[in-house]
Amino acid sequence: MAGSTDGAADPATAPSPKSDAPKSPAEPKSPQSPLKSPPKSPSNASESAAHTAGPTPGSTLLPPEAWVDAEEDHREVDSTLGDDAASSTASLTASILEYRNYHGRTYHSNQGNAQYWGSNDERAAESMDINHHMLTLAMGGKLFKAPLEEEKVKRALDIGTGTGIWAIDFADTFTTTLVTGTDVSPIQPTWVPPNLDFEIDDATQPWTFHRDSVDYIHMRYLLGSIADWDALYGEAYRALAPGGWLEHYEAAPYLESDDGSVTETSAMAQWGKTFVEGGAVTGRSFTVVPDGTQEAGMKKAGFEEMGVWEFKCPIGGWPKDPKLREIGLYAKLALESDIEGYVLFITNVISGWSREQVLVYIAHLRRELRNNSIHGYFKLRVVWGRKPEKAAPGGD
Ligand SMILES: C[S@@+](CC[C@H](N)C(=O)[O-])C[C@H]1O[C@@H](n2cnc3c(N)ncnc32)[C@H](O)[C@@H]1O
Repeated sequence: MAGSTDGAADPATAPSPKSDAPKSPAEPKSPQSPLKSPPKSPSNASESAAHTAGPTPGSTLLPPEAWVDAEEDHREVDSTLGDDAASSTASLTASILEYRNYHGRTYHSNQGNAQYWGSNDERAAESMDINHHMLTLAMGGKLFKAPLEEEKVKRALDIGTGTGIWAIDFADTFTTTLVTGTDVSPIQPTWVPPNLDFEIDDATQPWTFHRDSVDYIHMRYLLGSIADWDALYGEAYRALAPGGWLEHYEAAPYLESDDGSVTETSAMAQWGKTFVEGGAVTGRSFTVVPDGTQEAGMKKAGFEEMGVWEFKCPIGGWPKDPKLREIGLYAKLALESDIEGYVLFITNVISGWSREQVLVYIAHLRRELRNNSIHGYFKLRVVWGRKPEKAAPGGD
């Protein structure tokens, strides 16, 4: 497997940690009460918090009261497609626009088994777009890592396209490629390149794209949304033509540091634990990167000539290296522009935190993100692989 690692959190470039490490939230006063009722299906959850989950045994996840009781850290902060008779494709009916609403934030409507934990409103869209800019910077301006030959890529898919920003850039670059972006939320713009369209499509249902019909499939940030990765990779393999490429980007849920500046009880360290616990309840894992799901799943599906690129993405303006600092500032901006949209569903609806507990946690996280003595980063991993040229041709 070809492989490379780039990274931000190189201690050589990181300023050394200060001894006055940020204050942690108060120790839990009482253990969180265990789950009393089985998890509610989020689609049935009411607008109020459904207290449905508690930490798994042995978990170091702090109870939500900890954030309300915690002292504020007042130190100086940095100012700074296929066929349309489709089982997975829905036509754009009114029901698709009937979003679920939690505390004023909207989420995709009920569609098959789809369950995405992030909001789908304007604020969430802005965060996705900033994140795309950050990633493009991290990739040196490139939109893909697989060794694509433009003239051979006649058909491309972007699964879970979000605002469609990657698909738009790709369609603008590969002007003769027909590109389709799919998602469960109809949040894509209408003014797009002529070689791009969008479909409302649940990627966890059998795909409707014809077997052997696609030359390149791009998937990015589906963590926490997929219960059966083997099935997803199997569908991608089936849709790809022999010699076609699948490329899958994921981020680890953990915000960590190499120098101990992200402390165990910090809001940053608790971020990953919160998602991991939430994913255990929803049955849709957030640990795709730490579990090596991409490599294992793609290999199992039959992909070959696999490559991997890893990147330690800094969060905040702490790196000394100017390029990494710029990436870190965009990563911080992407997160800060909508922390609530990322955590509300998992903390409030799935784990039963109150609205106040969520908001206080967010305030702590925001302070830490602006503190340049905390050298946080998260791991990104891109894995790509090719459907063998000699794969047996399919039938449908
Ligand atoms: C974190 S966003 C990433 C968006 C985009 N890939 C990007 O990188 O900018 C994840 C997207 O996946 C979509 N998604 C989640 N579950 C899905 C499913 N089962 N089928 C299709 N899209 C899904 C969500 O609606 C959301 O737009």
